[in-house]
Amino acid sequence: MHNAEKIVVIGDLHYTERADSERAALWHPNGIPRLLAAAGRVARDSGATLALQIGDLVGGEESDGVAAHEALIAGAMDRLESALPGVSLAVVPGNHDTRGEGGPEAWAHNVPPANRAIPLGDDALILLDSNTPDETFAALPRLLLETADCRCLFIAVHHPVIPCYYGLSYRSIFLGEPERDAERLEALRLLAERHAIVLCGHVHTNGFIDWHGGGGRIVQVHVSSLWDGLEPALRETISTSDGYGRFYEREGRADAAAFFASFRNGLAAYQHFEGAGFALVKLCPDALSVDFFGGADSSRPLLTLPIDGNEDWRIVD
Ligand SMILES: [Fe+2]
Repeated sequence: MHNAEKIVVIGDLHYTERADSERAALWHPNGIPRLLAAAGRVARDSGATLALQIGDLVGGEESDGVAAHEALIAGAMDRLESALPGVSLAVVPGNHDTRGEGGPEAWAHNVPPANRAIPLGDDALILLDSNTPDETFAALPRLLLETADCRCLFIAVHHPVIPCYYGLSYRSIFLGEPERDAERLEALRLLAERHAIVLCGHVHTNGFIDWHGGGGRIVQVHVSSLWDGLEPALRETISTSDGYGRFYEREGRADAAAFFASFRNGLAAYQHFEGAGFALVKLCPDALSVDFFGGADSSRPLLTLPIDGNEDWRIVD
């Protein structure tokens, strides 16, 4: 008997308490705090029991020493727990979370480690630490074995596993360094074999990819919660698989263009939109979908992505 599960997915937050931070305006009451309040209402109304923050919880480079970094993590956790009362919280580390002097120690002492699996009824969620690719790649087979019997496998990881637009750092994905190509392709194969649904952040945009490759299929959903309260919540930019990675062709960046091209033929769906919001993953006995919510309006999803066997998507209103 499958139990319906719902997961609220919060994207990058880069929490700061410094008024002189370049991110300070995002933490104005009308910005991210308002978005988190909206996520809390959606969690309550939907009956979600788990909230996943997908990394870059804090702007770690702004802290100075272990104590300051711990205070930053505590402040961010307090914001999340206050906005999402009664909801369990899972966090994976992002590249900014362990930056700064004392950052790694503060993170290790205050946040449960990733590279572990969380059962979700008949499904499972694996939390991965993309900041430690060697350890994480080594742990992946064990984690996949632990979850071998689950229906749907979700992977929570800060860095995408399939590249999205990301300016200069087009290889800023899990195992993305050129010298790790063999491991990256093996990880893609292992995840595709399981038809994994990857929940990630890092790229500060929202969207999804349905990729058929590696002997299977990966659906990747990327979420950003960096809302300033002024920008429209979500704005469509690119909507076709054929447009995927063409930016680099126009820029004449052959290496990046070739990297994206290596994924293009496998794309069954690709959607990419700017702005910020959060997502609600809904697991039902015979259906699976992701609702994207914009920061300004929590009452209904702006876009629903049905996943299970369906490459279609539709904008609600
Ligand atoms: Fe980030």
